[in-house]
Amino acid sequence: MHIHLIFFFFFQTQKTALCSKSGCSSVPQDLPDNIEELHLNHNYIETLQDYSLSRYTSLRTLSCADNRLEILGSKVFQNSPQLESLNLAANKLHISYQQSSLALATVSRLKVLDLSENQLTDEMVTILLQNLTSLEYLNLSRNVMQRLDETSFNGLHQLRELDLQRNILFEIDHAFDHLYKLQRLNLAYNYLSCLVDFHMTQLVVLNASHNAIEWFIANQDIQETFQLETLDLTDNNIFFFPFLPTHSRLRNLHLSQNTVSFYEHLADNASYPSWTTSVQFYNLKGNVSNVTAQLWDESLHGHISSLEVLDLSVNQVGYFPQGFISKMPNLARLRMQTNCLKVLNLTQEKLPSTLYELDVSNNMLEEVHADQDHLRELANLSYLNLSQNYLQSLPSRLFSSLTSLSSVDISFNRIGICLLQDIGRTRRKVGPWSDQSDCLVWRNINSLKHLHLSGCNLGKVPWSAFIGTPLTHLELSNNPELIIEPRSVAELSRTLHYLGLGNTGLRDFDFSSFKHLKSLNIARNSLTQLPASLLTLELRLLDLRENKLTTVPSGQARKLALKLKTVFLSGNTFNCCQLDWYRMFEKAEAMNIMDLSDISCQDRTKRTHRVVLLDSLICDGSEEESVYWYILLVLVPVLCLFGISAIFVLTFRPRLLPKTIKKKCWKPTSY
Ligand SMILES: *[C@@H]1O[C@H](CO)[C@@H](O)[C@H](O)[C@H]1NC(C)=O
Ligand SMILES: *[C@@H]1O[C@H](CO)[C@@H](O)[C@H](O)[C@H]1NC(C)=O
Ligand SMILES: *[C@@H]1O[C@H](CO)[C@@H](O)[C@H](O)[C@H]1NC(C)=O
Ligand SMILES: *[C@@H]1O[C@H](CO)[C@@H](O)[C@H](O)[C@H]1NC(C)=O
Ligand SMILES: *[C@@H]1O[C@H](CO)[C@@H](O)[C@H](O)[C@H]1NC(C)=O
Ligand SMILES: *[C@@H]1O[C@H](CO)[C@@H](O)[C@H](O)[C@H]1NC(C)=O
Ligand SMILES: *[C@@H]1O[C@H](CO)[C@@H](O)[C@H](O)[C@H]1NC(C)=O
Ligand SMILES: *[C@@H]1O[C@H](CO)[C@@H](O)[C@H](O)[C@H]1NC(C)=O
Ligand SMILES: *[C@@H]1O[C@H](CO)[C@@H](O)[C@H](O)[C@H]1NC(C)=O
Repeated sequence: MHIHLIFFFFFQTQKTALCSKSGCSSVPQDLPDNIEELHLNHNYIETLQDYSLSRYTSLRTLSCADNRLEILGSKVFQNSPQLESLNLAANKLHISYQQSSLALATVSRLKVLDLSENQLTDEMVTILLQNLTSLEYLNLSRNVMQRLDETSFNGLHQLRELDLQRNILFEIDHAFDHLYKLQRLNLAYNYLSCLVDFHMTQLVVLNASHNAIEWFIANQDIQETFQLETLDLTDNNIFFFPFLPTHSRLRNLHLSQNTVSFYEHLADNASYPSWTTSVQFYNLKGNVSNVTAQLWDESLHGHISSLEVLDLSVNQVGYFPQGFISKMPNLARLRMQTNCLKVLNLTQEKLPSTLYELDVSNNMLEEVHADQDHLRELANLSYLNLSQNYLQSLPSRLFSSLTSLSSVDISFNRIGICLLQDIGRTRRKVGPWSDQSDCLVWRNINSLKHLHLSGCNLGKVPWSAFIGTPLTHLELSNNPELIIEPRSVAELSRTLHYLGLGNTGLRDFDFSSFKHLKSLNIARNSLTQLPASLLTLELRLLDLRENKLTTVPSGQARKLALKLKTVFLSGNTFNCCQLDWYRMFEKAEAMNIMDLSDISCQDRTKRTHRVVLLDSLICDGSEEESVYWYILLVLVPVLCLFGISAIFVLTFRPRLLPKTIKKKCWKPTSY
């Protein structure tokens, strides 16, 4: 065994021994005495025997993750006074935790301990951690802890980071109160139902995502500034905006995948006369004082003025309470994807000038309003996603006023591109608002790089529609009525890298001037052959799915195989007997056919085969089908001629018949 091991040893200046994945079942004893780091991960060690580390008195770091460890000998660390970091993840320490706790009690200098994935319950953890008063980092993720109380981490006064994700925690009762130095706490993927009376002022990152939390309520009486910078409550059951600390440094608030909504409209007691004007929050334990709050009371939101990222995507937000957004003067990213917004009045919301990303895609927006002065203030807005709404018009100067705009997505709304005759009239009055236009002008927006106009019911794209706009990425897919000529996008020939023309009824298109095009989507277009101009490009990605291709001629295939890195081809009905292209693509090492297993072909009897599973005998070897047709075409007249002459001969030379029949059919038989 040791001979085997030595092969894997490799010393660096820090005196590290790497013996991971070397098949050992005990600590190797033939390493230099002065090693400081020992890595024994992914081996078969079941016991860390007493004295097995005694030789290595300088050891600072021991990593023994993913073994079969059941027991730590109680004297194993006795001669390791320097040991600071111990990784015992993915073992079976639950089996003899009491015995093992005696070993851990002797390394009270330990700063870093990883006990993740050891099937530990809360009682086991309490016992294992008894004397580890110097711990700064503790990983208990992927265990089976259910509840925590003030005894759980007793004495861990130095703890800075605690990872408890992926346990089955449903209750936490003052477990962290004495962890005054704790800065990062991960409670993700547990079964917690609320976080109330949150008062950990020193905590910087709290991750409570993927639980069943209904309430997040910070202790509002604490006037001290909370150090909290990141709060992750993603994927819970929160339906009120969390009641954040009164003073904090909160910068990132992740609330996506909850059921958050605002209830300010209920305060309008003229419209909702029968509604009570306050709500009581019953503490689950029933004996702590109940909180009574006015639903629309702004102060409940707590301190949000330092927020930079607010992620409310996938919630139930129908509107922002008055003044809500203007309370966040530093906001850079506002993610409202998949909510219930119906109207967005940018002027009224007073979005801050720091705003960089605004995603309001997949809402129910019918109206977006903005006056030009306010738009000019949004000088940092670079990414705007309005896709999947019910918009039929937009403020006509929306995009030309946003000076940093680099990516716009208005896919799946019904907004066209203005034709030449519309362009003079910049204000096309639509509905009651004078500044709205049902078509957009995409000229001279010199910051814009990415434009997505998929599914916008586009018809004719006028000539030079994008002049002065240096697009690199243009998505026009899913506009089945699209009429586009190379002249419409001619100005983009020097900048365009990606062009999406999938499902646009494309017949042919001269791509030859788009020298910089790297990716092209022409899927779902009923193409029976590839546009010849494609071969002149330096394409890397080509999407040809769901067309009517039966083959790719060898000449084209050879050229494409040299250039393409990624290709999509499924949904075409290829001819099983004309798959030379497939063999070329397969051989091309740099090329990746992404949907290989879905590509099918039809044989001569119209049966469908998966190209990858194709039996090469289906076409009788490698001969092309056309050869057979030629042979058949020649054979039929020849046979006819032959028949006619035979009949002629037989009719007019009847005496020949018996001889012929005799010769051919009656073999001489001997009776
Ligand atoms: C706990 O650690 C202290 C030093 O901090 C040490 O004196 C004591 O013996 C340890 N307890 C046990 C049970 O080993
Ligand atoms: C804790 O351990 C788990 C599993 O071993 C790992 O995925 C996670 O990143 C660790 N946590 C930290 C904070 O290092
Ligand atoms: C919170 O934890 C989950 C699970 O480990 C992780 O996916 C997520 O990125 C974390 N959130 C933050 C803000 O780091
Ligand atoms: C509506 O409720 C507020 C607060 O409870 C109260 O001050 C106000 O008088 C009420 N208005 C009407 C019209 O009832
Ligand atoms: C709350 O109830 C628990 C048990 O039901 C009890 O131990 C505790 O003392 C109570 N707290 C208060 C403040 O009444
Ligand atoms: C909280 O409200 C519940 C339900 O009305 C009530 O039973 C309980 O006594 C209240 N507790 C306090 C401390 O007010
Ligand atoms: C948008 O908000 C501004 C400022 O509150 C207001 O003057 C304007 O009338 C609003 N526009 C619409 C269409 O509601
Ligand atoms: C613009 O947004 C980016 C990204 O959030 C940020 O780094 C930059 O500081 C912002 N600039 C201004 C002037 O707000
Ligand atoms: C815009 O949002 C939609 C829906 O949320 C998403 O599918 C799309 O990728 C986003 N567009 C861009 C350019 O990121």
